[in-house]
Amino acid sequence: MPRTLDPELRRALAARIRYYNEMGIYDFYRRPPAEHAEDVATAMAVDEAGTTVLELKLYPGEEMSPRKAAAVARAIPVEENIFEAIALKPEQSVSDPVKALKIIREDLGDCTRCVLHKQGRKQIVFGVGNPKAELMFVGEGPGADEDAQGEPFVGRAGQLLNNMIKAMGISREQVYIANIVKCRPPGNRTPEREECETCSPFLMRQIAVVKPKVVVALGAVAAKTLLAMSASMMQLRGRFYEFRPTGVHSNDPNWDGCKLAVTYHPAFLLRDPRQKGEAWKDLQMVMKELGMKAPAKDAL
Ligand code: URA
Repeated sequence: MPRTLDPELRRALAARIRYYNEMGIYDFYRRPPAEHAEDVATAMAVDEAGTTVLELKLYPGEEMSPRKAAAVARAIPVEENIFEAIALKPEQSVSDPVKALKIIREDLGDCTRCVLHKQGRKQIVFGVGNPKAELMFVGEGPGADEDAQGEPFVGRAGQLLNNMIKAMGISREQVYIANIVKCRPPGNRTPEREECETCSPFLMRQIAVVKPKVVVALGAVAAKTLLAMSASMMQLRGRFYEFRPTGVHSNDPNWDGCKLAVTYHPAFLLRDPRQKGEAWKDLQMVMKELGMKAPAKDAL
């Protein structure tokens, strides 16, 4: 069904976004609704019959979550999609991925965007590894060791991830490793969906800078957040997904997304080592995709 965006609202919203962008603001953060109605930018997509198929309110300072952005992108034709403006991130004019990642890290700052900042985190765990990696691993969130050291996957689960990487015939330094949330959830609880949605835009930007050929989502939280879908690990594993980071474009016209595979989280494999064989099958699928030589023996 063809859908159009009210031209006046489109102009108003585009102007608002450009205004923020010009001030160097590229991300929009969630705050309580504005007191004054005039401060709220509203975009509506209506079908031919005039029925509103999507209404979006953007409060001053509100974050455009990946889910909201995806919903908008689906409802509004590409040529009318003013939210493309939001995808213009400051790192996109920078070709050196080290510098681009630094810009994203600086943009993240001493982040207070979600509750995790006041729930005992020691530091932000941004990501580590080869900024031009062909292979990227994405976990759930830092644990105690990662929080202490400021690097993802350095604890027991990290040791197993290192072994998994080694079993593939490569080293940890050759890949890029990051998490869905960059702050340790208290008591290592699973991050809430809102925390994932608030933090993952930064990960999406990291992915668009690194431009991997394959992303491996470690566990259900990473898989569900990246794919914006809900399914069991059994349903998610065993195949590749076409993946494009939500809400951001790479500045490389030759990179239009990559493959994404799902496997078990190393912490789960530590609890249930019988599943290591299944994880190894997932990694073999990834190796084949990357044209990597199979090692002599099953090594997990
Ligand atoms: N588990 C994760 O998901 N990420 C880490 O960095 C460490 C453990």
